[in-house]
Amino acid sequence: MGSRILITGGAGFIGSHTCLVLLDAGHELVVLDNFDNSNPEALKRVEELAGRGALSVVEGDVRQSDVLDQAFRCKGPIDGVIHFAGLKAVGESVADPLRYWDVNLNGSRVLAAAMEQHGCRTLVFSSTSTVYGEPDQFPLTEELTTAPVHPYAQTKLAVEQMLQALCRSGAWRVACLRYFNPVGAHPSGRIGEDPLGIPNNLFPFMTQVAAGRRERLQIFGNDYPTHDGTGIRDYIHVMDLAEAHTVTLDHLLKQPAPSILTLNIGTGTGLSVLDVVNGFEAATGLTIPYDLVERRPGDVPRLQACPERAKTVLGWTARRSLEEMCRDGWAWQQANPMGYRKPA
Ligand code: WQD
Repeated sequence: MGSRILITGGAGFIGSHTCLVLLDAGHELVVLDNFDNSNPEALKRVEELAGRGALSVVEGDVRQSDVLDQAFRCKGPIDGVIHFAGLKAVGESVADPLRYWDVNLNGSRVLAAAMEQHGCRTLVFSSTSTVYGEPDQFPLTEELTTAPVHPYAQTKLAVEQMLQALCRSGAWRVACLRYFNPVGAHPSGRIGEDPLGIPNNLFPFMTQVAAGRRERLQIFGNDYPTHDGTGIRDYIHVMDLAEAHTVTLDHLLKQPAPSILTLNIGTGTGLSVLDVVNGFEAATGLTIPYDLVERRPGDVPRLQACPERAKTVLGWTARRSLEEMCRDGWAWQQANPMGYRKPA
């Protein structure tokens, strides 16, 4: 028997893929999204793929308590919440910290207050591996000291601390999922990553080069202390990440309260920028022209998960390969050169 789940930011890249996995698992969904950095088309396609219409949409901002009341009331009692809505561009957070503290921290605070008011205290929170800052021990376990170095990560860690306090004060069940680098798309090619403007992230920039939307990839730095000098990250297929949310939610819904869980959600494998480019070329037969340029400010040399706790607690591990990430990411880009926006 499915539950009724509120998904904030459910039209986004990770949110839409998680909605699809939740629908396939038999849940009923209420999605709250302001569509600032997402498109309602994604949710239409999610329902098409799921083949069932158990998804209601409330348009609005998570910082508006009246909008949240509408979301909690529109279909009846909410059993749990997955909170994706937030800002996540590292460089932007440095340039505009107040906006990040407002949306990410204040938005989470207003959401938690609305949950209390509506008697729902089960929450999966979208956190980030960048709370570890520039670590020097790998792979990264959840016990590692956090040392966020930019406002994006600082806001996410602050929300984790707020949620820990809620679990100490009352009957809350919380999971903080620290994401590494989600990439790829649903294998149907119908939903995927659709960044507005010039992509900040490697994978969508690379697929846009492959699609001819961008001329050349700039590789930021080849003088890092890594096997080939380029930065190392833990890239995870977005479907693996989406499945981690469903497993986490099911786990939380069975837990006695209070319960708090912090998990690194990665593959445990570190790949360099050149590993990803070479993997993409091998998987697609395409060539990605690139230039080796200066490091990007704020980048760290390496982030790589130890995902053992997620395996032990949830029985979850990432299953999909770099080839599948590249194949599925390219299928989405090829079928949707302009993302969800209809070609001019
Ligand atoms: C990856 C690697 C770059 C672009 C992201 C999200 C952040 C967080 C963590 C969830 C780095 C290099 C990139 C390009 C390049 N996600 N690169 N050329 O910086 O790890 O952060 O994941 O919390 O929100 O932004 O990802 O894809 O930007 O960079 O060489 O055009 O690719 O230097 O080594 P990052 P990224």
